[in-house]
Amino acid sequence: MNKNAKAVEIAKDIHWVGAFDPDLRVFDLILKTANGTTYNAYVVRGSEGVAVIDTVKEEFSDAFFERLEQVVAYEDITAVILNHLEPDHVGAAPELMRRAPQARIYVSNRGLKLLNATLKDELEMYAYTLTNDGDQVSLGDRTLTFVHTPYLHWPETKCTWIEDEKILFSCDVFGSHFCDERLYNDLVGDFRFSFEYYFKHIMRPFKRFVLEAMDKIEPLEPALIAPSHGPILRDHPMEYVRSYRSLSASRLPNEMEGKEKSLLIFYMSAYGATADMARSVYEGASDVDGVRVSLYDLQGGETDPFVDLIEEADCLVFGSPTINGDAVKPVWDVLASLISIETKGKFGAAFGSYGWSGEAVPMIEDRLRGLKIRVPEKGVRIKFHPTEQELEDCSAFGRSIAETLCGKAKPKVVDFADL
Ligand code: FEO
Repeated sequence: MNKNAKAVEIAKDIHWVGAFDPDLRVFDLILKTANGTTYNAYVVRGSEGVAVIDTVKEEFSDAFFERLEQVVAYEDITAVILNHLEPDHVGAAPELMRRAPQARIYVSNRGLKLLNATLKDELEMYAYTLTNDGDQVSLGDRTLTFVHTPYLHWPETKCTWIEDEKILFSCDVFGSHFCDERLYNDLVGDFRFSFEYYFKHIMRPFKRFVLEAMDKIEPLEPALIAPSHGPILRDHPMEYVRSYRSLSASRLPNEMEGKEKSLLIFYMSAYGATADMARSVYEGASDVDGVRVSLYDLQGGETDPFVDLIEEADCLVFGSPTINGDAVKPVWDVLASLISIETKGKFGAAFGSYGWSGEAVPMIEDRLRGLKIRVPEKGVRIKFHPTEQELEDCSAFGRSIAETLCGKAKPKVVDFADL
């Protein structure tokens, strides 16, 4: 049992009842945090009902219930609003429903399967509503409005809004993995790094959806943003909304201004064979009007800037020799880094020189398809050093990809990304 777990009133009759997790160092296997995180949950009291908004990770249930009991009796809870059904927010929901079985659960219309997975056989014992964007719940003198924010960062994600007080309960949106018991953004330590790092790892792959969500949230002009991780944003909350918009915008000025397609070729070469192939692919692709082609030797680059370029590119072509039955590590490093950006709908291709079996090319193609990248051309594999004719084949390969990219040729192989 947590000692001295106190609920915090963040507005009249609205309390924070979350939990601190200062010892966490890695979240969801991919995010590091130097000072832990918080799981923020809230209680909103109205004249004719009480809503609990989100819960906490299961192992922090004791602190959550201890705080909750300070501000509401279980029998008075009328609504349990689950803005997002990832376990760090619904871990205590099954036990909350056992204690407050009369409460109606509200999840977005895309959340039913996850709600089922959360409550299992017990779900049939409770009343629940699948919400649409803009639906409301009345607590008497307070009304909660649901603002659906799909893919920030799961399909079912939503926020809950109180218009009268202009408070937005935003769940993961505008969150940070930062644990500071001073709770408010104007009191805690400097968390700017955490805010941007969190965006980069959680929201960045969904930038398109972030911009759509900001179109909804900006006109609301929240006076207080209460996310489910990290500081509550009461000081200049709109700065964080603007920050999300700017973090979702293009990172670099783009001289192509949308008039040309961008095709990037990345390669590594052990004996120069794959490098020669890369130059031929580059030359072939460069013959096609309307395509700007760039050639990069991965030996000379860091992964992060390449990921920024790839995010805004239309087509990615990877060249790798096969070494010990595999593509080389720098190629995998770049491919692994693409988890943090949206790749669906881009085109991709692979090529490479080999000695025995040449697995690198099909392995890269599989990874591209796994990222929902369309692979319009079967990759080119050449044993040892390419002949003049084989270099011409590489050039034709590059030309064909570029023509497909700008709509001058149809893809030749099955588009697995669309299956
Ligand atoms: Fe904080 Fe997507 O869970």
